Amino acid sequence: MKAKCLSIFVLLGALSACGGGGSSPESLDAAKPSANPSDMAATWAWSLPSYFVLPTVPADNPMSEAKFQLGRSLFYDTRLSVNGIQSCSSCHVQAKAFTDGLPVSRGATSEFTHRNAQPLGNSAWHTSYTWGRPDVTTLEAQMVIPLFAEHPVEMGLTPLNQGAMLARLQSDTKLVTKFSEAFPNEGAPVTLSNIIKSIASFQRGMVTSDSRYDQSLQGKVALTASESRGKELFFSDAARCSRCHSGFNLNAPSDDVRGASNHFQNTGLYNIDGLGGFPAPNRGIFEVTGRADDMGKFRVASLRNVALTAPYMHDGSISSLEAVIDFYAAGGRLIASGPNAGDGRVNPYKSALTSGFPISTQEKADLIAFLQTLTDHTFVANPRFSNPNE
Ligand code: HEC
Ligand code: HEC
Repeated sequence: MKAKCLSIFVLLGALSACGGGGSSPESLDAAKPSANPSDMAATWAWSLPSYFVLPTVPADNPMSEAKFQLGRSLFYDTRLSVNGIQSCSSCHVQAKAFTDGLPVSRGATSEFTHRNAQPLGNSAWHTSYTWGRPDVTTLEAQMVIPLFAEHPVEMGLTPLNQGAMLARLQSDTKLVTKFSEAFPNEGAPVTLSNIIKSIASFQRGMVTSDSRYDQSLQGKVALTASESRGKELFFSDAARCSRCHSGFNLNAPSDDVRGASNHFQNTGLYNIDGLGGFPAPNRGIFEVTGRADDMGKFRVASLRNVALTAPYMHDGSISSLEAVIDFYAAGGRLIASGPNAGDGRVNPYKSALTSGFPISTQEKADLIAFLQTLTDHTFVANPRFSNPNE
């Protein structure tokens, strides 16, 4: 249902397809809390530009301001990790649109993750989570990975030590009050399930919709000549960026790129065996499906706030936007030597849409200028998403 909504929803489309959701585009806050605190547990008002749709919220985890605020507090709480040194925010930093600026991240026990930390803005709208897991379809399901993953360890919880973590939180009376406000009908609300529900609610509330690009769509600002040329190129049949990066989150493949797994594409980053191979364990959704033609297929990344989320791609292997554009213009990546040597340009599983295109120095600068309009400075400075424990 959601996938269909997103793919038929091209930038300035009408609201009706998915039930609306637009209200005043002037409001920059993700949501307006209820005026009456006793209603805090029950109410939530999405405040979205007209070209957004309402996100899907699981029936057993409705949004509320109290849950959002509890989730916000827990997102920044290092007591959630096995040794008290990491929180979600260790790898998801607001100033970097909730990424960490590293090619791959480092978990609580210093192990490196396999992939690049993803931005979290507008994650409520994703139809699957992480770079290559079509089977992880809710934020609640995703969160089990950072909390409990063993290979590699992120926050290092286990079924054996999770009791100690809950006891750490239970001993903080202020925090217990927040749990009671968020889950008012529960006698003992400090549970793992409620931790997950509240952090998921916080993440759903992380709406980013006030970039210059949004402001231009809403007629509040005019793009510069260079930004406009870059936008034209982005949406052109020459560069074809928008064929995959379409929709209001610039991550939905357009209608003509359909197929069972059209949200996952091979862009030609690797070809280590001449047969299209990507280096394990980063072989895209092939890791999950085992199907040969899923080799190297990763989720089309949202380009919102992309100027803040370097380095790029699932493994952080491209360092700058300029290098990303060079990569697409070349129709893939040739790696001349080393363990990952190979010519990604001729990867047999690469999308036909990434066959390369000529680009001048001026056009490259224009395209970068357009990508920079996708930065939402309000979002990365919004106190609603900052650490409330500081
Ligand atoms: C050690 C660093 C680290 C920590 C700590 C961490 N993450 Fe992540 N996060 C990552 C990485 C790396 C990815 C990409 C995972 C992948 O594709 O395999 C990711 C992906 C995600 C995604 C998927 C986003 C998307 O677009 O699909 C969400 C949501 C997320 N993290 C939330 C959290 C939450 C909530 C916490 C705390 C409970 C957390 N993370 C803790 C590194 C981290
Ligand atoms: C065939 C679909 C497709 C086309 C066409 C395409 N992209 Fe992508 N894009 C992807 C996928 C898939 C990823 C993630 C790839 C990975 O990590 O392995 C991605 C990643 C990116 C990233 C990195 C985002 C991040 O957070 O790491 C940028 C920037 C980007 N694309 C920009 C562009 C631009 C600019 C164009 C046009 C020149 C373009 N893309 C064309 C599918 C596409």
